[in-house]
Amino acid sequence: TTEPDIKKGLAGVVVDYTAISKVNPETNSLLYRGYPVQELAATQPFEAVAYLLWHGELPDEVQLAQLRTLERSYRHLPADVRAVIDRVPIDAHPMDEVRTAASLIGARDLAGMGSVLDASGSAEENLARSIRLFAVLPAIVAYGQRRRRGLDPIEPRDDLDYAANFLWMTFGDVPEDVVVDAFNRSMILYAEHSFNASTFTARVIASTLSDLYSAVVGAIGALKGPLHGGANEAVLHIFDEIGDASNVVPWLDEALAHKRKIMGFGHRVYKRGDSRVPTMKAALDTLVEHYGRQEVAELYDKLESEFVSRKGIYPNLDYPSGPAYNLMGFDTPTFTPLFVAARVTGWTAHIMEQLASNALIRPLSAYNGPDERHVEGYVPDEAMA
Ligand code: CMC
Repeated sequence: TTEPDIKKGLAGVVVDYTAISKVNPETNSLLYRGYPVQELAATQPFEAVAYLLWHGELPDEVQLAQLRTLERSYRHLPADVRAVIDRVPIDAHPMDEVRTAASLIGARDLAGMGSVLDASGSAEENLARSIRLFAVLPAIVAYGQRRRRGLDPIEPRDDLDYAANFLWMTFGDVPEDVVVDAFNRSMILYAEHSFNASTFTARVIASTLSDLYSAVVGAIGALKGPLHGGANEAVLHIFDEIGDASNVVPWLDEALAHKRKIMGFGHRVYKRGDSRVPTMKAALDTLVEHYGRQEVAELYDKLESEFVSRKGIYPNLDYPSGPAYNLMGFDTPTFTPLFVAARVTGWTAHIMEQLASNALIRPLSAYNGPDERHVEGYVPDEAMA
């Protein structure tokens, strides 16, 4: 027998085509529907990028206004969703809270749908579902942070765009433009990244002709892990452990001696740097300046230069976004839910793309368990044979 050619972790395996984004590790570049992500981050509101991911083109003024009208109409936290969030243990991880709330949004939306045969929905229905999730997730994430601080939810404001309204619902004020702009950029950079673990999870679930909400709930579960989205939270834990730049060298000596993984560094696809980091680092720099927190930049730079020179492993997007969210005032456990709010655009675009030319995703495995053996005392039943 020949050994099967197993690609552990599906590393290097090309699973399907996608027209949504192109990751090019050779040039450290990332394109959404052909546009370099740094150009989108510098020029577009997040709503326009969501539209681009779903439709393949940037919206004109009318199309953007229509999407914004819809988005504003679903921004409110429904009372029953709030009630369910309130029943999630206060010390549960916020990702569990977001996953539960997203599941309820799906159950409400699909209520009355009698048969699993109807679940996967038409392209039109799935676009509407995607917009609803995109619009309501900020209210869920913002309320989660407020609840943990003992505060009530804040009603959305119709005069604000997505990014400013998200910050408003979280903090009860609208910060200066530099902060809103940095937040908007982070949402755009987090929106999409081809067949990463959570997106692939969503596509696997969609491929069974389950529904879009189930696919997103599964993707949230995949994103929670610290090897994936959970890394942005983990970066802040590391920053807290280190304290300040003068402690980087002894901390790193110790961490590497214990073979610890340094969160926020390394990537399966990019081996020479993550295309999104320079844009997010520039946004972090504006926040450091704005809040007068130079020590954050010193720690960031010192850990990066020490780790890169020792291991040749570069930062990924979670490295600058973790401290950026911290400076904006988000609590550390809220960071990965912010990633959910952004990536739901990419997930839903992929779910719709998967359904447009679906094939059930069902790979094979090679068996390496015990050889065939028999239960002691088993006597074959003639009648059943
Ligand atoms: N710290 C220390 N060593 C590392 C790291 C790291 N962050 N990343 C890779 N390595 C080492 C790893 O230990 C291994 O060494 P050896 O060959 O001696 O065993 C080698 O580099 C290859 O690493 P790998 O984990 O086998 O490679 P991979 O392609 O599976 O890794 C990764 C990708 C993201 C899982 C890994 O780099 C990692 O665990 N990074 C930390 C978590 C993180 O920041 N994740 C966010 C990923 S990007 C954005 C996102 O999805 O949120």
